[in-house]
Amino acid sequence: MENYKLTNRTGSPVPDNLNTLTAGKRGPALLQDTWFLEKMAHFDRELIPERRMHAKGSGAYGSFRVTHDITRYTRANIFSRVGKETDVFVRFSTVAGERGAADAERDIRGFAIKFYTEEGIWDLVGNNTPVFFLRDPLRFPDLNHAVKRDPRTNLRSADNNWDFWTLIPESLHQVTITMSDRGLPSSYRHMDGFGSHTFSFISSDQKRYWVKFHFKTQQGIQNLTNQQANALIGTDRESHQRDLFDHIEAGNHPKWTMYVQIMEEQDAETYPINPFDLTKVWPHGDYPLIPVGELTLNRNPSNYFAEVEQAAFNPAAVVPGIGFSPDKMLQGRLFSYGDAQRYRLGVNHHQIPVNAPKCPYHSYHRDGPMRVDGNYHGAVSYFPNSFSEWQEQPEYQEPPLKITGDAARWDHREDDDYFSQPGKLFRLMNDQQKAALFGNTADALRGAQHFIQIRHIRNCYKADPDYGRGVAAALGLSMEVVRDYQGYEMQPMTAI
Ligand code: HEM
Repeated sequence: MENYKLTNRTGSPVPDNLNTLTAGKRGPALLQDTWFLEKMAHFDRELIPERRMHAKGSGAYGSFRVTHDITRYTRANIFSRVGKETDVFVRFSTVAGERGAADAERDIRGFAIKFYTEEGIWDLVGNNTPVFFLRDPLRFPDLNHAVKRDPRTNLRSADNNWDFWTLIPESLHQVTITMSDRGLPSSYRHMDGFGSHTFSFISSDQKRYWVKFHFKTQQGIQNLTNQQANALIGTDRESHQRDLFDHIEAGNHPKWTMYVQIMEEQDAETYPINPFDLTKVWPHGDYPLIPVGELTLNRNPSNYFAEVEQAAFNPAAVVPGIGFSPDKMLQGRLFSYGDAQRYRLGVNHHQIPVNAPKCPYHSYHRDGPMRVDGNYHGAVSYFPNSFSEWQEQPEYQEPPLKITGDAARWDHREDDDYFSQPGKLFRLMNDQQKAALFGNTADALRGAQHFIQIRHIRNCYKADPDYGRGVAAALGLSMEVVRDYQGYEMQPMTAI
């Protein structure tokens, strides 16, 4: 039985937690009321910075079980035998809203998985979409400035949002998904997850494969219309959190099937699509989905702040047998997450239980605020040393990666195509889905200026003329107006 008797932080009993110490019945408070000072000072510091994006989220624990053998592609211990189970912690999120934002917003959903493997933490920090708005990380801060609040009005701005998106046509694939019927999942349980980037697998015979990760929901895809979401937000701003928590609490454990797509290392040089371009998918006809295992969420955190708010996912956290790729977005993320977390949580955030590896770890990093794990006691603090501390593990070295080319700030737009894949996606939609895409786009774009609307219609038209026509009609614009408009930053649209 725990002792619930109230003490201060140094363990002394607190005799009264309702009345401040005052000089006389009506008199002022006394500075020697140290319990009041301690309680108030702690309260004043209860908040930590929210995540720069993906601030609103929900988390749960569970496990990953291997169902199919992929050991020919990777030596990663987590996949070493069929039936092997690994503990996980998953955090889902929306992207643009702050910590108090409503869940049922049209937005991408984060799908971040922390695998506590026997060879360290593997964080797969993905989304519910297979692609992303950008393919160069230098644009990422601007994306967030464009979709978050306007610096002057403090309002979300359709102008800022769509001005930015329409000026970077590589975003059209992601924008099409976000405006489609799948752009507003009914809950975190009813959506798929994707690692999105291309990663690498290293096999035990030191061969490299390129790999993409997919998680298909076993609950089925379910979405909300804008109207349904507006009505829901009016009654429940936490619909995703409530859904996930309540289902897990009731023993109705959500599951996803994990698949991989595998590309031979040398195919990357000849495959017509740049496999390291995050705005594109690998068609399943070329690279079929290979089943790997099952992810189940079965336990709610016992404290939201400790376990969900303080969770730190980092794409740089990989384990032997799983590696990076030349995708420059991924390369940018390898810096940004650890950097953000050192600011948000502190340099020792790996000690927080939800973040700590479940296997032994000895980085020999020392000191820093909030060091509570013994700080390696008297172990030598330099390398090389004569005392067998800090032993390297050369057997985990990856095979060398061949890289060629001149170092330059390459403009990927010069030699690439951003319209074929959104066009293909559009043509895969049935009439009802196309109508939803037109309507959702018009709803979101209506608040933007005329020239921005026209620019988006022209981008859609390049993907598929019917896509452009459909959005124009939903906005009440004729194609003649779209064709003849000559304005700021507009590419000619002679083909209309
Ligand atoms: C959160 C940066 C692209 C998924 C974050 C955070 C940063 C960040 C700084 C907050 C981290 C924290 O405070 O713990 C970036 C940069 C990107 C990028 C610089 C591109 C250059 C992406 C992409 C995806 C993604 C492409 C998905 C494929 C997420 C998720 C979270 C997140 C799911 C929330 C993780 C959690 O639940 O704690 N991102 N991001 N991000 N990002 Fe990104």
